[in-house]
Order: sequence, then structure tokens, then C-alpha cells
Amino acid sequence: MARIIGGIASTHVPAIGKAIAERKHNDPYWKPFFKGFDFVRYWLAREKPDIAVVFYNDHGLNFFLDKLPTFAVGAAGEYRSEDEGWGIPVSRSVPGDPALSWHVIEALVADEFDITMCQEMLIDHAVTIPMTLMWPGQTWPVKIVPVAINTVQHPLPSLARCFKLGRSIGRALASYEQDLRVLIVGTGGLSHQLDGARAGFINKEFDTFCLDKIAGEPETIARYSVHDFVERAGAQGVEFLNWMAMRGALTGRVTEVHRNYHIPISNTAAATLVLENDARPASLAA
Ligand code: DHB
Ligand code: FE
Repeated sequence: MARIIGGIASTHVPAIGKAIAERKHNDPYWKPFFKGFDFVRYWLAREKPDIAVVFYNDHGLNFFLDKLPTFAVGAAGEYRSEDEGWGIPVSRSVPGDPALSWHVIEALVADEFDITMCQEMLIDHAVTIPMTLMWPGQTWPVKIVPVAINTVQHPLPSLARCFKLGRSIGRALASYEQDLRVLIVGTGGLSHQLDGARAGFINKEFDTFCLDKIAGEPETIARYSVHDFVERAGAQGVEFLNWMAMRGALTGRVTEVHRNYHIPISNTAAATLVLENDARPASLAA
């Protein structure tokens, strides 16, 4: 059976791609951020996932305001990236796992999630930047199932709905027959706002609240409405919907094993989190 080993949440700011290309890892501005990935790389080398289910938001590369699905699940054999205009290197393609994607899609529709299924799907910086941070300079050792959540055009799905989407996917993964080690990834956030009167807005207090609650008390965060969340975290801070879905997919006992928080990276409060998921019955887990 497939096993969900844990979750990683990561900021996906495009400027990180430029800093990597220019080898700025030890630059004083970047060091506190990149240092936060030392443990992530160690943990991944130890845990060796085969698959990553990646919750992210598309920024106009694949979907635009003319057609924007609330939830879209990739079912492609390969996911390409393209030049988005940020001036960062276009990353390599990522292999997919169509059989697992269709299993997830079947389960979601059976659970009454009316998703969009994509046999072709481009992936943007919200997938490729976290992948590059997790496995720098190597061929990515995982196949992916990308799940795009609309965090861009209102009305957005609620935090509670994204948590339930994650739950449904977690159940589907746990019932998959192949012996796969599955990592769940949520990208974006934490607080940031890129435009309007509040451009540059960051809220450390609220970010800390979200980081403190997501492992053990995610329901506390799920109670916020999208509008209240935007007020506290900024218009793009609502990318946290991807984190909620990631947390929902961790269906066992969840423990935080690593956290890094650094202000600012570009316009964003940059956060990295590693959660372990123990799926064994309580009697065996002790
Ligand atoms: C930035 C943050 C994002 O989430 C994004 O998608 C693009 C840019 C930024 O802070 O620069
Ligand atoms: Fe973003």
C-alpha cells in the first residue's frame, strides 16, 4: 500500500530561482532563507519519497482569468514548465504518474469534489521553485501529481474546503495498492501582498499563529473566512490554501520536525515547514 510519509510547505517566490542561478546561497540577504532547507534535504535523503502530490496555485502560465478552475488535478505523463517572464531559468520537465492521478481523480469525484482533470498541464514557479529547493542540482527523484487550487480569482474555495480536499486525497492515497512513499507538498505564502495600497504587507504575528497551529490544530485556521484571511495575511497570503490542503492530506499523527521563517524574501514572509505523518495505529506507534 502507498504510505504518506509527511508534508513539506514552502514559499515559492520566483526571485529564489534567480538567486539559485546566481549562486547567492551565502549572500547575507539569502543565507537565512537557504539555511532553512538544509534539514529539508537531509530529511528527503532519509525518507526517499517516490511521489510528491503538490498543492499549488497557477499564476497565469496554465490557467488565466478567462478560465480558472477551483481545483485542477494533473493526469499527465510529464509536466513541462515555460518561460513566465520572471527572468529565471526554465526548469526541466517533471514526470507524472497517470495511474495514480486517475486513482486520485476517481476518489475526489466519488467524494463529490467537482474537479477539472488535466491530461496536459504546464507547471509554473509555484511547483518548480520548491522542487529546486528540495532537490537542488539533481534529477528530481520523484514523480508528481500536481493539484492546482484557485487562490487568484474570487470567489476562492474556503480554507475548510481545501482542508477537506486534502483529506479526500489523503484517503485516496492511503488506499492505493502500490508500495509507494508519498510526500505531500503545499507551496506559497506566508503573508504577502504584491499590489494595491497594501503592497509589501507582511504580518509576522498571524504567520506565527498559522505555523503554530497547522500541525496540531488545523481546524483553528480552517475557521477563518477567505476575506478574514486576506485581511490578516494579504491578498497573496491566501496561497496558504495550498498549505491547508497539504495538511488535510496527512491523515495520521502529525508532528512538526522542522520550521524556518524569514522576512522578507522579495515581498514575502518566507516559511518552510516539515511535518511527519505517522500512519501506524496508536498501539504500534508508541
Ligand atoms: C512573489 C511572491 C509570490 O507568491 C509570487 O507568486 C510571485 C512573487 C514575491 O514576493 O516577489
Ligand atoms: Fe505566488
